[in-house]
Amino acid sequence: MGIYKLVALTGVPCVGKSTIANILAGYRDVEVVNLNRLIIEKFSIKSGGGVKTADMEALEKYVRNLKSEKTVILEGHLSHLLPVDIAIVLRCEPKLLYERLLLRYGVKGKRKIIENLEAEIIGVITCEARLRGVKTLEIDVSKRTPQQAAKLIIQILQGKDVNDCVNWLTEENIELLHSIREKLKDYKFGSDYT
Ligand SMILES: Nc1ncnc2c1ncn2[C@@H]1O[C@H](COP(=O)(O)OP(=O)(O)O)[C@@H](O)[C@H]1O
Ligand SMILES: [Mg+2]
Repeated sequence: MGIYKLVALTGVPCVGKSTIANILAGYRDVEVVNLNRLIIEKFSIKSGGGVKTADMEALEKYVRNLKSEKTVILEGHLSHLLPVDIAIVLRCEPKLLYERLLLRYGVKGKRKIIENLEAEIIGVITCEARLRGVKTLEIDVSKRTPQQAAKLIIQILQGKDVNDCVNWLTEENIELLHSIREKLKDYKFGSDYT
């Protein structure tokens, strides 16, 4: 389909990458690769302290050698760090994202919640992708259903440049972040944070 062979579908956890990727997988000309699964199954390395991290070098090599007749969508929060033709960054309104992060990680995952919320407010993923020189477009998923977002992505793959140019770095969102930090401050970190 269209002009891009390799596409990164990226964004912080809980923005809706997997939900939207599942819809995109139903399109004939699209092949979706779940990057998290691929990393766990084939491309993780143990670094200091036994912590597993993604072997980005090996992953890059693998991705460069991918052969497909279809447009390959790499779904995952590291996908924009790979040699892709375009990065599509899903952006989600911080308040809404907080609710989803809280549901996923619980109060014990507060460091993960706050880190990802900060990253979303600052727009870290978009910056990382742009600084690599990758064409980068943003989709605000907070005002769309996953189906609508998927349709928009198909249009992008067909050559239309849709870009919501999100800016969550506002007084209001910084205030929100402070209030969440305050709310979670008495909870101890879970065992996944050492
Ligand atoms: N556009 C949306 N509107 C409402 N809920 C959504 C939307 N996109 C995702 N969700 C919900 O948010 C949660 C996180 O979505 P998921 O696709 O797992 O995110 P990611 O893969 O980016 O971590 C899921 O419970 C999903 O059902
Ligand atoms: Mg996911």
